[in-house]
Amino acid sequence: MFYIIVGTNRPDSRSRQVAEIVKAKYSQLEIQAEIIDLAELDLTALKGSMYGQELEGPAGDAIKKINHAEALVMVVPEYNGGVPGVLKHFMDYWSYPVSFEYRPVSYIGLGGRWGGLRPVEHLQQIFGYRNAYSFPERVFLSQVWDLLKDGEILDRGVNDLLSTQVDHFAKFVRALQGAGLDANSNRPG
Ligand SMILES: Cc1cc2nc3c(=O)[nH]c(=O)nc-3n(C[C@H](O)[C@H](O)[C@H](O)COP(=O)(O)O)c2cc1C
Repeated sequence: MFYIIVGTNRPDSRSRQVAEIVKAKYSQLEIQAEIIDLAELDLTALKGSMYGQELEGPAGDAIKKINHAEALVMVVPEYNGGVPGVLKHFMDYWSYPVSFEYRPVSYIGLGGRWGGLRPVEHLQQIFGYRNAYSFPERVFLSQVWDLLKDGEILDRGVNDLLSTQVDHFAKFVRALQGAGLDANSNRPG
């Protein structure tokens, strides 16, 4: 299963709309993809000092899914020049190394002028540090409020970029799996 992570807990976020669009594109390739939307997790589980311990409830269930994901697709909006704090907070509860190591990850940024370049590059730094396989073809959705209407991408060129990313990332993941290099082939223990 591919998991598409909506990198904010803002209700009715544009990131969620983009995740739905991308999910449909994976399904056209007969790839099963499920959305993990931070807005649907009970993030009160993250309060306190539970770092390193298994979380209960929806947030813990989501981490278990991530720990067995074939691949992760990060849909991340730019908040105040970076990754939404809530996403980093959630990621700090993921399991190391299993959530990250050898896991294929692709990136879609949303924002104003720079289309989420900063949060995407920050995530690449985090996943890179934790030895994930970052897919290099990133997509940036600039002035995202003008790009989306009724759950669709209005700009054909941008829509094609997303389709190409989906197609190439699926091949990238299959190639890693074929070589036994992906996270699920390399589970520790
Ligand atoms: C708290 C907050 C901070 C934001 N900061 C930035 C920013 O620094 N740069 C930018 O380009 N857009 C910024 N935006 C705009 C968002 O990137 C844009 O509205 C995007 O659609 C938000 O994604 P969402 O709908 O998934 O929440 C900000 C939006 C919010 C809610």
